[in-house]
Amino acid sequence: MKELLKFEDINISYDKKQVLYDLSFSMGEGEILGIVGNSGCGKSTLLKSILGLSGPKVLSGKILFENKDLLSLSTNEMRSIRGCRISMVFQESGIHTNPLKTIGDTVFESMKAHKQISKDDALNTALNIFENLSLPDPKRILNAYPFELSGGMNQRVGIALAMLNNPSLILADEPTSALDPIVAVQIVNELKSLREKYNTAIILVTHNIKIAKSITDNILVLNNGKTLDYGNAKEVLSSPKSDFTKELILSTLG
Ligand SMILES: Nc1ncnc2c1ncn2[C@@H]1O[C@H](COP(=O)(O)OP(=O)(O)OP(=O)(O)O)[C@@H](O)[C@H]1O
Ligand SMILES: [Mg+2]
Repeated sequence: MKELLKFEDINISYDKKQVLYDLSFSMGEGEILGIVGNSGCGKSTLLKSILGLSGPKVLSGKILFENKDLLSLSTNEMRSIRGCRISMVFQESGIHTNPLKTIGDTVFESMKAHKQISKDDALNTALNIFENLSLPDPKRILNAYPFELSGGMNQRVGIALAMLNNPSLILADEPTSALDPIVAVQIVNELKSLREKYNTAIILVTHNIKIAKSITDNILVLNNGKTLDYGNAKEVLSSPKSDFTKELILSTLG
């Protein structure tokens, strides 16, 4: 598997408070990496640092993505990667979409931000992805405003929108935690089919070990910013090294 993303000894702080320590991991193209850990352990911070979002300060280390050193890129170079090579799925998908715009208009806007494209071509790209993800009634979705769709459907649309510019990496921060268990399973299946159909790699932040178990290749367990377990998901979950991971597994898998 070709390497896609690599963290080398990353240390991150906010102001003077350090939140991630000596973080190292790597993932290949099309790999699904699960990140689990206690609330406040630094999961969202890790994702923000990949996107180069303001806030967290990388004190030392390297982040390599598609052989580029992300920390050395200019704001403009980073902007061209964000939403294009790397995109994000949030916990509340409302963030993806503008409430005053139809999904179709949002589609056109997010595609033309990265390349010259006609509205028809943009909408067709979206229809194709909606169909590949088995979203019901794709044409109605394009004409709908976000408030006309259910929360679960908005989240599914959010995942489809994250695919518009054919990224090689999707960052999903708790994409299922606001949803009922049935829709959560649907979302997980959709993420799986992204990998199958488009070979998209995914970092999935989740509190739900069951979900992590069902979808991830590798798992990284963080506790208060430190890596306690990392490796093949089946191995980590069947023979965890740390007591924290053992407790996490016991509390959710029983
Ligand atoms: N913008 C910020 N400024 C200062 N400190 C922050 C900021 N964002 C997060 N933190 C702190 O950094 C630490 C890690 O936060 P982060 O949001 O990455 O945790 P998390 O693992 O995503 O938690 P959760 O599971 O609750 O979403 C926490 O102690 C948090 O309070
Ligand atoms: Mg978080």
